[in-house]
Amino acid sequence: MSKTIYVLNGPNLNLLGKREPEIYGSDTLADVTRICTDVAAPAGFEIALFQSNHEGEIVDQIHAARENACAIVINPGAYTHTSVAILDALNTFEGPVFECHISNVHKREAFRHHSYVSLRADGVLVGFGIEGYALATRRVISLLKGV
Ligand code: DQA
Repeated sequence: MSKTIYVLNGPNLNLLGKREPEIYGSDTLADVTRICTDVAAPAGFEIALFQSNHEGEIVDQIHAARENACAIVINPGAYTHTSVAILDALNTFEGPVFECHISNVHKREAFRHHSYVSLRADGVLVGFGIEGYALATRRVISLLKGV
């Protein structure tokens, strides 16, 4: 079995740390990689983090995960609320899938309250800042190790 956990990020998350810091904080995607690796490495897993502003590229990464990853942690950004294509791609993946949102989407505009991805996700973390990614990583490792 692959020991790689894919951490996928959707549009505008390349600007994490610079974009609306009052909502998303000042940490960057490099910090996300670091905190997830801090959880994964001692357990013998590795993190592969990707970000794209393009829906089809995220679909392609999910397809790649079918061969190369044991689990997916995904923050699809705004595609969360619109993308049947990302949901369909996730439905082709057999391992654990955790959905993560830095902000508490339920405290925000009504259009952010619905997620297509939640129809597939094994768990959803909202409003934990970037710590949500590390918590999701911890959970997928527990599931994969059967503890
Ligand atoms: C987000 C929430 C989405 O509604 C938004 O479009 C994002 C980021 C979050 O991490 O809180 O881009 O997924």
